[in-house]
Amino acid sequence: MVLVTTEGTTEWPVRIHSPRLVIRPPGDADRASMIRLMTDPVTREYLGGAVDYASRQALELSPLGLTWGRWVLALAGGDTMIGSITLGYDRGELELSYALLPEWTGRGFAAESCIALLGWARQELEDEQVIAVSQTRNKRSVALLRKLGFTVRKGLEEFGSQQLLMERDQLEPLPEYAQPLQTAADPPPPTRR
Ligand SMILES: CC(C)(COP(=O)(O)OP(=O)(O)OC[C@H]1O[C@@H](n2cnc3c(N)ncnc32)[C@H](O)[C@@H]1OP(=O)(O)O)[C@@H](O)C(=O)NCCC(=O)NCCS
Repeated sequence: MVLVTTEGTTEWPVRIHSPRLVIRPPGDADRASMIRLMTDPVTREYLGGAVDYASRQALELSPLGLTWGRWVLALAGGDTMIGSITLGYDRGELELSYALLPEWTGRGFAAESCIALLGWARQELEDEQVIAVSQTRNKRSVALLRKLGFTVRKGLEEFGSQQLLMERDQLEPLPEYAQPLQTAADPPPPTRR
């Protein structure tokens, strides 16, 4: 096993599997979804709005791919991109962030991908803690982080908004993957009297 605490494992790209997802590096086929993720008003509501024109143009022109810690979330069957997840050290500590395209929220994919990635990080990286920063108003994100075992280290103001810097001890157990929820399209079998 290779242990690293800085960006870059000796093995990159890394692919991680969870029950319904493949967490893989982005490829050129993901470009349109990636741009939508950076410009969609719902996705960007608590992320400071759409990225500016220059950043978007850079994204349109740059090859997508081999930046350590930047993954796409794709459905295990069919490889459709549904969001992104990243690990990085911009604040000097291992930091998690994630975003789903709006049509893929509310189905447990964010929790599933975070459980898989935090499990991978626990095995492969030496970092004892992971942090995540979320706008205080971003209730879904804060709820997700609490579900994953993050607690508030401190509040801070950044980009003109109140943020919570949350932390998680990597030795704490991770939640189990949720059982698939039943939907109307998947009714329970009829019961016999
Ligand atoms: C933050 C964000 C990732 C949270 O997404 P989410 O859909 O709430 O989180 P999950 O994918 O884990 O889904 C959880 C919900 O799915 C439901 N769900 C449905 N099927 C499920 C299943 N099989 N397993 C688990 N949960 C399931 C849960 O009940 C829960 O719903 P609830 O919140 O109404 O109780 C999403 O809102 C987002 O991408 N926002 C924009 C980007 C952003 O703000 N990123 C954070 C930056 S810090």
